[in-house]
Amino acid sequence: MAPLPSTLRRLVAILGLVHLFSTVSADLDSNLTGAGVRSVFPGDSDYASASAAFNLRFTLDPAAVAYPTTPQEVSSVIQAGIDNNLNVVARGGGHSYVANGLGGKNGSLVIDMSSMKAISINSSTNTAIIETGNRLGDVALALNNAGRAMPHGTCSYVGIGGHSAFGGYGFTSRQWGLALDPIFAINAVLANGTIVRATEDSYPDLFWALKGAAPSFAITTSIEVNTYPAPSYAIVMEYSWSNMDFSTAGQAMYSFQNFSLSGPASPFAGELVISKGSQAGQVTFAFTGAWYGDEGSAVSTLQPWLDTMPTPTSSQLVGNGSYIDTVAQLSGSSLDTSQAPDSSDTFYAKSLMTPEDDPMSLEACTAFMKYLANEGFSSDTNWFVEVELYGGPNSKILEIPNNATAFSRRDTLFTFQLYASSSNSLPPYPEDGYSFVDGMVDSVTSNMPSSWNYGAYTNYIDDQLENWQTLYFNGNYPKLQSLKDQFDPNNIFMFPTSIAE
Ligand SMILES: Cc1cc2nc3c(=O)[nH]c(=O)nc-3n(C[C@H](O)[C@H](O)[C@H](O)COP(=O)(O)OP(=O)(O)OC[C@H]3O[C@@H](n4cnc5c(N)ncnc54)[C@H](O)[C@@H]3O)c2cc1C
Ligand SMILES: *[C@@H]1O[C@H](CO)[C@@H](O)[C@H](O)[C@H]1NC(C)=O
Ligand SMILES: *[C@@H]1O[C@H](CO)[C@@H](O)[C@H](O)[C@H]1NC(C)=O
Ligand SMILES: *[C@@H]1O[C@H](CO)[C@@H](O)[C@H](O)[C@H]1NC(C)=O
Ligand SMILES: *[C@@H]1O[C@H](CO)[C@@H](O)[C@H](O)[C@H]1NC(C)=O
Ligand SMILES: *[C@@H]1O[C@H](CO)[C@@H](O)[C@H](O)[C@H]1NC(C)=O
Ligand SMILES: *[C@@H]1O[C@H](CO)[C@@H](O)[C@H](O)[C@H]1NC(C)=O
Ligand SMILES: *[C@@H]1O[C@H](CO)[C@@H](O)[C@H](O)[C@H]1NC(C)=O
Repeated sequence: MAPLPSTLRRLVAILGLVHLFSTVSADLDSNLTGAGVRSVFPGDSDYASASAAFNLRFTLDPAAVAYPTTPQEVSSVIQAGIDNNLNVVARGGGHSYVANGLGGKNGSLVIDMSSMKAISINSSTNTAIIETGNRLGDVALALNNAGRAMPHGTCSYVGIGGHSAFGGYGFTSRQWGLALDPIFAINAVLANGTIVRATEDSYPDLFWALKGAAPSFAITTSIEVNTYPAPSYAIVMEYSWSNMDFSTAGQAMYSFQNFSLSGPASPFAGELVISKGSQAGQVTFAFTGAWYGDEGSAVSTLQPWLDTMPTPTSSQLVGNGSYIDTVAQLSGSSLDTSQAPDSSDTFYAKSLMTPEDDPMSLEACTAFMKYLANEGFSSDTNWFVEVELYGGPNSKILEIPNNATAFSRRDTLFTFQLYASSSNSLPPYPEDGYSFVDGMVDSVTSNMPSSWNYGAYTNYIDDQLENWQTLYFNGNYPKLQSLKDQFDPNNIFMFPTSIAE
């Protein structure tokens, strides 16, 4: 007798859920349709592509993906989200490492910004208004066509929306700052649907929070930025050392740190790139750099470090000397993102930001390289590590105080990106990939004092990170919490690692 009632209960429960679900989606559907916003719903033929993540480790089912074309429409979508009791998120370029552009969890209402791609440049003020649906390649091309530039990362397909919300590091950052630094006004829609223009004078607290933690506070529709003259000479430098034993590699990273602390001029940029060696105990060690100054001083700036290094296996200057060519070379793809489809990957990534005033010991550098040379050799993942130069004296990133904007980790010498993909870049992600990447970070931190004040980078966002409030936001977290309470009291803009009240 027992099975029947329980089956019935289950049936009633399922029907109830289906009913609830269809009621919700019917309202949402009519709300969005009523607002005139093109939207894609579960069951639509384009839902799978509209809800696909860049990182295929995540498969998420948003409540809908809406494509507004104006700030007013963004406001209507937020209002529809509120009326349907949904969390709301923006998707810029969709390149979040943990699919936060899809909400980072199931059931969020996604505001896809890709229909808002205007860029207007005022050539008398040398300012630009950039809608947040643009990708970095589009921004670089449009500014360069007017002889201008701004700091931003390398990948053409990364969205300026997410990138500038959380920082935005690129090879011009030592001379111009992070992507968020040239922003002097942000046009945004708040959690109650109000459209605002935030500056240092109007909504100053909101402006502060948007520069480093924007997704927790608003949907930004455009940023207004000061631009720089595109450098008249620029070049990329590439050096590589194959089959480097781990102790030489540890020494090489340590001496790169020493060189960095000596304060190379701000037009100098660079990162170490470490990848799998051809036998256990070795790594492939490389340096990619750029120079935005006078022709002839690129290599001489790097020479003090090269003098400490073994002879490279290969070295070359890449590019034709024009600024936009270095942007294209560093991106490794077309800058015009309408020309080819975006890629995808299946990966786990972490970050580590080392404090400028407390550099790594030689022991920590060597332990790191030993781990990569041994565990990295046997790992079945495709992995790389980038050690990006943020600091050293002369870096613009560090000139701005940590508490001047929500971005809290400016006093950083190096930002490590530690990244491992499944062997064929497709799911499933191997379970040992997590412990492998976690161990990379541990190999450094466990060889430094427990008081070491390291951080993590919000744009290399990590769904497994413990203590992320401190690692990402450090001393700015309490102020962010109180502003969250003020600007989003109902936690509409909630996602994994959003600011909690
Ligand atoms: C191939 C690749 C290369 C990269 N290279 C660099 C690099 O050189 N330097 C660097 O600093 N980073 C780099 N990154 C990291 C990149 O900056 C982040 O992943 C960034 O957050 C992506 O922004 P998005 O708009 O493409 O992503 P999305 O997934 O669309 O958004 C990321 C986050 O920002 C939020 N968001 C997006 N748009 C808005 C908006 N308009 N208003 C409010 N919130 C918004 C989303 O909700 C989400 O939380 C790279 C990433 C990849 C995949
Ligand atoms: C989201 O829903 C899909 C389909 O129902 C499911 O496969 C996936 O595991 C869910 N993801 C999360 C994070 O709950
Ligand atoms: C959404 O639909 C509900 C139910 O029809 C209605 O009460 C509400 O006003 C609508 N909201 C918007 C923003 O149109
Ligand atoms: C450029 O900015 C100036 C100063 O704010 C303004 O007077 C002018 O109208 C702007 N030009 C354009 C084309 O927007
Ligand atoms: C450290 O850098 C200084 C220059 O600032 C240089 O003179 C010295 O040789 C370097 N030491 C090492 C170990 O690389
Ligand atoms: C240099 O390269 C860029 C793009 O990669 C191209 O637009 C430009 O025309 C080139 N300039 C010269 C002088 O070849
Ligand atoms: C940052 O900290 C300094 C020193 O404590 C303080 O004087 C300043 O007002 C702070 N700035 C902001 C924006 O909170
Ligand atoms: C919306 O929120 C902002 C910021 O908290 C507030 O200034 C504004 O008055 C609110 N608008 C409405 C209509 O409640």
